[in-house]
Amino acid sequence: MITLRKITLENRRAIFNLEVSEEQRRFVASNLSSVASCYVLATNGGHPLPFAIYSDEQPVGFVMLTYGITGYEIPSIAHDSYCILRLMVDKHYQNQGYGREAMNKILDFIRTYPAGPAHYCWISYKADNLPAKKLYESFGFRDNGEIFGDELITVLTL
Ligand SMILES: CC(C)(COP(=O)(O)OP(=O)(O)OC[C@H]1O[C@@H](n2cnc3c(N)ncnc32)[C@H](O)[C@@H]1OP(=O)(O)O)[C@@H](O)C(=O)NCCC(=O)NCCS
Repeated sequence: MITLRKITLENRRAIFNLEVSEEQRRFVASNLSSVASCYVLATNGGHPLPFAIYSDEQPVGFVMLTYGITGYEIPSIAHDSYCILRLMVDKHYQNQGYGREAMNKILDFIRTYPAGPAHYCWISYKADNLPAKKLYESFGFRDNGEIFGDELITVLTL
């Protein structure tokens, strides 16, 4: 069973060691860098929610959620919305349904509105990241035509 768990003193190294394949590195930052970004967000008025993705007792991935980022250059959708950032499943555990199951759990969690109310959830992704695009579309995300840096914005109405 897939669960989302807190990053702890005990599991942090295992989470930092999870990685995507070399060809996928341009799609997502390292988990170490993502956790560092969480610190910067948290100390600058943001609401980062980083999680380890576990399959039973095995860490298999990482995801970071944010809510209503302020003070950053952000797409217009970002205010009072949840963002799914840095979703990754380690290269050894991909294509086994973990990413899809993690998305189910992530959206269930977002729909508890843990950091505040919201109408939308958004994700930015590189146009040629077809597995990610297919995954997000299957959950009802649709591109809104906005481009953020070199990434497309896809949006789900909660
Ligand atoms: C995107 C990612 C998280 C998916 O995780 P995963 O555990 O491999 O995905 P799953 O096995 O649950 O597959 C879920 C869906 O993803 C899509 N998918 C996964 N691998 C794919 C591939 N090689 N080609 C096309 N679609 C693919 C399919 O839509 C699949 O749905 P299905 O159940 O109908 O087959 C994983 O590929 C990953 O970590 N990629 C690198 C990091 C990244 O790109 N993150 C997204 C940043 S925006």
